[in-house]
Amino acid sequence: MFDLDDTARYAAFDPEAMLKTIRELPAQVEAAWQLAMEAPLPDDLREVERLVVVGMGGSAIGADLLAGLMARKGTVPVEVVRGYDLPAHVGGPRTLVIASSYSGNTEETLTAFEEARARGTRLMAITTGGKLAAQAKAEGFPLWTFSYKSTPRAALGYSFTLLVGLAKRLGFLPIKPDSVAEAVARLEAMQRQLLPDVPTARNDAKGWATWLHGTVPAIFGSGFLAAAARRWKGQFNENAKQWAMWDELPELNHNLVVGLGLPETVVPHHLRVVFLRSNLDHPRVQVRWQITAELLARHGIEVREAYGLGESAFAQLLTVIHFGDFVSYYLAALNGEDPSPVANITYLKGRLAEL
Ligand code: F6R
Repeated sequence: MFDLDDTARYAAFDPEAMLKTIRELPAQVEAAWQLAMEAPLPDDLREVERLVVVGMGGSAIGADLLAGLMARKGTVPVEVVRGYDLPAHVGGPRTLVIASSYSGNTEETLTAFEEARARGTRLMAITTGGKLAAQAKAEGFPLWTFSYKSTPRAALGYSFTLLVGLAKRLGFLPIKPDSVAEAVARLEAMQRQLLPDVPTARNDAKGWATWLHGTVPAIFGSGFLAAAARRWKGQFNENAKQWAMWDELPELNHNLVVGLGLPETVVPHHLRVVFLRSNLDHPRVQVRWQITAELLARHGIEVREAYGLGESAFAQLLTVIHFGDFVSYYLAALNGEDPSPVANITYLKGRLAEL
């Protein structure tokens, strides 16, 4: 098995340098914020009354994170559309539809975006290039491009922060530059404790990966951290190449808790639960975390909690995500999997192109 403290082994296990991109999260956030504050943006976009983001996978999760922040302090609704079909109610010039796609070539995203165009919404694209960038250039709608070589999911610092910066520029989200600086400082401080040269005894990410190895992790979050739970799940799938689940509180108190004991072959030995928590969670949610932990304990299910760090929801979101990214990285090592390639996504995209 991979010895997480044997630093000489990391280069061979991670030939496409996933670790480098995880480490660059704070730098991505800084660069994306700068870009968002300076990028061209037509003034009349401030007149729209809601935002719809179309995207998939690693390019959709940033929109979920934005929606979580907007639900707390934003002034317009944000809807995230994952799929070919734009909801029937989306249309007209009072809605801004933003296509978020790292490659600019994702089939579902392009299809839903095309539908938005047909329905006369305002359009905008956030991408590194591809068909989406070409279309924006040809048709003259706003295009924010970023250039960052990585897998799409590893560019979350861009895809998320650009959306946050856009919401701020449009006057829809009162986020302070201080929150961005706070998040960057917190991320930098945090990652110093989580890098491969910090031994397992003092490295929480290695410790958590060891704890989760060989199990199905179920990640729970509430409010703005529910999307972080989804991100953890996606990173366990794509980086560590394994099953994971996510759910949210208080909703899971109304269904999931009823079936904690079965199947016996899985529970409790092959299931672990992670709570992603915040001091900003609703007071009754804080109580629900405690009772949910009691119920899980009755079934012998081990639980660990990770708290968002910092004052702002923005910093808390990013720190929880950063920790999860490191855990998924070490879990990939323990699983003997290269964290970067996503063979089955590539296969699917290739097959779809043939059919
Ligand atoms: C790969 C990844 C995927 C992609 C998704 C959409 O790292 O995270 O979930 O994000 O297949 O592709 P893009 O982002 O190019 O639109």
